[in-house]
Amino acid sequence: MKVLLKTDRYLIGRWKDAVYQHVPGLEIVTFPFVGDPSDIEVVIAWEPPQGLLASMPNLKLVISTGAGVDHILKDKTFPRDVPLVRMVDPGLTQGMVEYVVMAALLCSRRMHRAFSAQARKMWEPETVPLAPEVTVGIMGMGVLGRACAGALLGMGYNVIGWSRTPKKFDEVQTFDGIEGLEKFLTRTQILVCLLPLTAETEGILGRGTFNRLPPGAAVINAGRGAHMIEADLLRALDMGKIEVAVLDVFNEEPLPVDNPLWDHPRVFITPHTASVTTPESAIVSVADAIDELRKGLPLSNLVNVELGY
Ligand code: NAP
Ligand code: GLV
Repeated sequence: MKVLLKTDRYLIGRWKDAVYQHVPGLEIVTFPFVGDPSDIEVVIAWEPPQGLLASMPNLKLVISTGAGVDHILKDKTFPRDVPLVRMVDPGLTQGMVEYVVMAALLCSRRMHRAFSAQARKMWEPETVPLAPEVTVGIMGMGVLGRACAGALLGMGYNVIGWSRTPKKFDEVQTFDGIEGLEKFLTRTQILVCLLPLTAETEGILGRGTFNRLPPGAAVINAGRGAHMIEADLLRALDMGKIEVAVLDVFNEEPLPVDNPLWDHPRVFITPHTASVTTPESAIVSVADAIDELRKGLPLSNLVNVELGY
């Protein structure tokens, strides 16, 4: 079985080693490859170029190295009859839990004020709310959202969640669909976006959403940049509607040097590193998918291409 690896260039060697070590009997080629596209049966991919997957007539499986698959489905020539599985990996989940807990603490402990005072060498004590006085609202109660909810509850935060379909959790009040969004937002003091990017969720972090949050709310976006309307966020920050934002993903990545978010005193920026897939742990999920394909078993973590996640 011939497998094409198209991952970030700096990770390609580690992916190759991991696949060779954990999945016997594969011939691996890396992108860009010279050869016959009809030989390729499996592609392991991050941001495959437009048309690449459609050029492989014998493709049997596409494995996304990311949890999100928008980087694959944005290619309108994607062969929709080929199964697409996405990354679900304990390492990826742990990374996101650490990021969201860190970001929630930055916001509720009002660290932007402490950093600003430090930059001015000013001693400006203030009391901050403790976690049980703060409600974190998580948009997207999937693999990552649920894990973050558990960790935040453990810290003492009140946690509520929003998803597409109804959910039931012991300690997390949940809301669903457009009908549930308003109630969810009006109760949320720290909004965490862990949604997949789909036609329905694009631009969801915009003026309408910010206006429904209580004054002085915080926004953490670790979903995708296109969830956020950046001009609306800047306006909401400047009007005091939003007190602070922690952003990992952007409409354009790398974030252009002239983007005003860089200089905003109440915006924390990370370069799409909230959680990065590491080949050494993610290979388990890749090996399982190839094993399931070979045995003709139902595929785990199969993406619903119609829904886009
Ligand atoms: P997941 O398990 O597929 O969960 C997605 C959640 O979003 C589900 O709860 C789903 O609702 C909800 N959802 C989808 N469409 C919705 C809609 N229209 N309205 C309301 N809720 C909706 O995905 P995951 O593994 O948790 O990953 C989530 C996203 O995190 C990824 O797609 C990716 O974009 C992002 N991510 C970012 C990084 C980073 O480093 N920044 C790393 C990894 C992942 P249902 O439960 O009802 O289906
Ligand atoms: C990273 O952004 C991912 O989708 O895993």
